Amino acid sequence: MNSCADLIKEQVRNVPDWPEPGVMFRDITTILQRPDTFRKVINAFLERYGNQEIDVVACIEARGFILGAPLAHQLGVSMIPVRKEGKLPWRTVSRSYDLEYGSAVIEVHEDSFSEGQRVLVVDDLIATGGTMLAACQLVEELGATVVEAASIIDLPELGGSAKLRDNNYAVYTLCD
Ligand code: PRP
Ligand code: ADE
Repeated sequence: MNSCADLIKEQVRNVPDWPEPGVMFRDITTILQRPDTFRKVINAFLERYGNQEIDVVACIEARGFILGAPLAHQLGVSMIPVRKEGKLPWRTVSRSYDLEYGSAVIEVHEDSFSEGQRVLVVDDLIATGGTMLAACQLVEELGATVVEAASIIDLPELGGSAKLRDNNYAVYTLCD
């Protein structure tokens, strides 16, 4: 039987030169399209986090929402959207960061996390790690603790997971 990592590698769509020349874009819509694989992905995260003490799943826009929402629902904990700049209506804290293709700002509402809460941060993919690092730093800025940074895919050649570990964040990914 195929492992979850094998299925992801087989089924992810690799799109060369998108959104710009030189980038091999890893498109997870082909995974979401297959209900068995989507379920296996969510179950793999549930296996890891089902017995851990977690208060909040912080989900990074946009593809992190797709994974983090069912995970938070199944774990029975809060779901916090970590959004791109200008999308949240109330008072925010924000961080800017660099991407494989450009730069961006993410933000959360000021009351998203409280002192001592244990937060799982979720996205689909870690490339340079800039997005995930900024999200983890926002969690800590608001006094909460990052339990782990989790994603479906790690692109280790871009150094993101190593950068996160260098910054003392635990990282869990389903495949490289
Ligand atoms: C992608 C991906 C991660 C981020 C990873 O999102 O979903 O959030 O890039 O890159 P990094 O590790 O180099 O920071 P993108 O910024 O393309 O936004 P989207 O999900 O809104 O399409
Ligand atoms: N985000 C940053 N780099 C990416 C890539 N190569 N594929 C999908 N999402 C990404």
